[in-house]
Amino acid sequence: MRRIDLPNIVPGMVIGRSLYNSLGQTLLKSGTMLSANYIRRLEMLGIPCLYIREPSLNLPEVKDVISDETRVTAMVRVRDILEDPSKETIALRTEGALSSVKDIVRELLRNSHAVVNLTDIRLDDDYLFAHSVNVCVLALLTCISLGYTQNKLHEVGLGALFHDVGKIMIPKPILNKPGSLSPEEYAIIKRHADHGYLLLKDIPIAKDIAYQHHERVDGTGYPQALTGGHILETSQIVAMADVFDALTAHRQYRVGFPAHEAYEYLSASGNKAFDMHLLRVFLKNIAAYPSGLTVELSDGSRAIVLDTAPGAPLYPRVRLLSTQSDIELSHSTLHIVKVLTGNESVTDN
Ligand SMILES: [Fe+2]
Repeated sequence: MRRIDLPNIVPGMVIGRSLYNSLGQTLLKSGTMLSANYIRRLEMLGIPCLYIREPSLNLPEVKDVISDETRVTAMVRVRDILEDPSKETIALRTEGALSSVKDIVRELLRNSHAVVNLTDIRLDDDYLFAHSVNVCVLALLTCISLGYTQNKLHEVGLGALFHDVGKIMIPKPILNKPGSLSPEEYAIIKRHADHGYLLLKDIPIAKDIAYQHHERVDGTGYPQALTGGHILETSQIVAMADVFDALTAHRQYRVGFPAHEAYEYLSASGNKAFDMHLLRVFLKNIAAYPSGLTVELSDGSRAIVLDTAPGAPLYPRVRLLSTQSDIELSHSTLHIVKVLTGNESVTDN
C-alpha cells in the first residue's frame, strides 16, 4: 500500500484503507475503486492523502497499532462525551470510554513492538475526536515502554482521551478560528485546562492530565507555569503526544507537518519543553517516516517505506521503485533525503 497525496490521486486507483468519520460511518471502504466524483468529494472534505493499493510493487498492507474497530468505537465514544460534557454525561459515559481504553491497552500490549506507523487520515470536522484517540494511543505506548501497571495504563488512557475535554466550554468561533488569535482569545482558549480539571475532578489522574497537559518543564507552559518535576510524569507524556499529533494533523487552515518534521521538532525540545528521558521513550515508538510513504534516498533512488523497527525511527526498511529490492536503512550507508508526493511511478528513478 502506498500513501499518495490527494492532488495525485486519479480515477481508477483502489483504496487500501477504509476511511471513517467520528459518527462511526464508513466514508470509503477499503477496496473501492475511485471515480472522479469520489475524488471531488474527498477534496471537499479536505482529505490530504489516501492509502492506495499498488499491486505491481507487491507492497504489504499498512497496519495501524490498533484495529479500525477499536479506533472508531473510541472516537464515537469521545464524541458522545465531548458533544455534551455535562457532569451527569461524563459520569454516565465514562464507563464506555474506559472500555475503549481497555481495548486499546489490550491491543497495544499484544502488539508491543509496533511503532506508530500510520499517517492518520481524518476529516477536519472530526479533529478533536480523532486527536483525542491518537493522543491516547501515543501516550499509552510510552507508558507501556515505561512498564506501567495495567490499572495505571487504564487511568492514563482515560486522561489522555479526555485531555482536551475543557475545550467544549470554549466558544466555537474562538476554538475554530483560522489564523492567529488575539491575546484575549488566546487567554480564553487557555482556560480549557481549568475547565477540564473541573469537569474531570472526580477522576484521578485524568483531572491532572486535563489541568497540566500544557505545562512545559522550562516553565513556559500554562495554567500554572510549573517547572520540571512539579509536572506529573503522566501529564508530560500526554503533553508530548498532544504536540506530536497536533503538529501532524491537517487542518482547514494549514497543512500538517510531515511525521519526520514533527519528530525533529520534538527531538529538539528535550529539556526545554519536555523531560529528555520521557521524550526519548516517546520517540522510540514513532516512525518518523510512516509506512507507504515514497522517499528519495541519498543516492538519488526512490523507494517506498515498508516498516520501521522500534528504536530506529529514522531508518526504516524500504523497497526500491527501480528494482523492487528491499533495503534495511539501519544497516545501509544510504539514508532518506526527501519525502515525495507519492505519484512517482515504478519506472521512475
Ligand atoms: Fe489542550
